[in-house]
Amino acid sequence: MPNAIPQHVAVIMDGNGRWAKKQGLLRIQGHEVGVQRVEEIIKAAQEKGVRYLTLYAFSKENWRRPKEEVEFLMGLLSVYLDKKIKELIKNNCVFNVIGEMGDLGATLQKKLTEAMEASRNNTGLVVTLALSYSSRREILRACQKIADEVSRGEIKSSEITEEIFSRSLYTADMPDPELLIRTSGEMRISNFLLWQISYAELYITPKFWPEFTRDEFEKALEDYKGRERRFGDTCPVKVSNSSNGTRAANGGRT
Ligand code: IPE
Ligand code: IPE
Ligand code: MG
Repeated sequence: MPNAIPQHVAVIMDGNGRWAKKQGLLRIQGHEVGVQRVEEIIKAAQEKGVRYLTLYAFSKENWRRPKEEVEFLMGLLSVYLDKKIKELIKNNCVFNVIGEMGDLGATLQKKLTEAMEASRNNTGLVVTLALSYSSRREILRACQKIADEVSRGEIKSSEITEEIFSRSLYTADMPDPELLIRTSGEMRISNFLLWQISYAELYITPKFWPEFTRDEFEKALEDYKGRERRFGDTCPVKVSNSSNGTRAANGGRT
């Protein structure tokens, strides 16, 4: 049932390093500007009525980067939590993390947990940061959890449904993203939400993340409005004139 504004937007925030290089700056300066865009896009998403915004901030594979860059990114996250999280919570946002939080330093884990706790009863935009995130790991973890349930006799393997599987992922309480944005032009998913994006609309822009302003975000939402979503059927459902998304009783066929 598509709406003109996607309920859930996921973003692969890529290109900080290349943007910095283009400006003659250090990669880490690109990351600093990237944080400003995070704040801007959270506000824009809130104003546009998006319900869930999931931001890929650090992948499990990103630990392979030079130690200095990794430390800088973790420091940046820590400063962001110290300085900005209060405002986010005050603005009624729910703060959430997906990924292997145990990989992060103890202080950072504590700050993240506190932020999640403090925002738990909010009712506005759900902002999820993917940190030390790997979609394959998430899927494996779900398989292990369900396998344990089967071995305890709580469920039969034949009873495992897509819904049960989805509910075993980090994203258990969220709808699947309708729109996936990737900045910096790379035509790949980089191990992000592989299960959840099976029918997401993809929007890949050549803009680097530090250039991805509110206007660029609005362009992505506009583009989404023009999409026809088919879900394997023959009758497209146009996102923008779906008049609240209901298909005709005949499924829209004429
Ligand atoms: C995205 O920008 C930020 C993270 C992955 C943490 P990059 O750091 O990947 O920048 P590029 O892709 O090298 O330009
Ligand atoms: C994807 O960007 C991860 C994040 C945005 C956090 P990468 O820069 O790590 O992806 P690849 O290596 O180009 O695929
Ligand atoms: Mg990159």
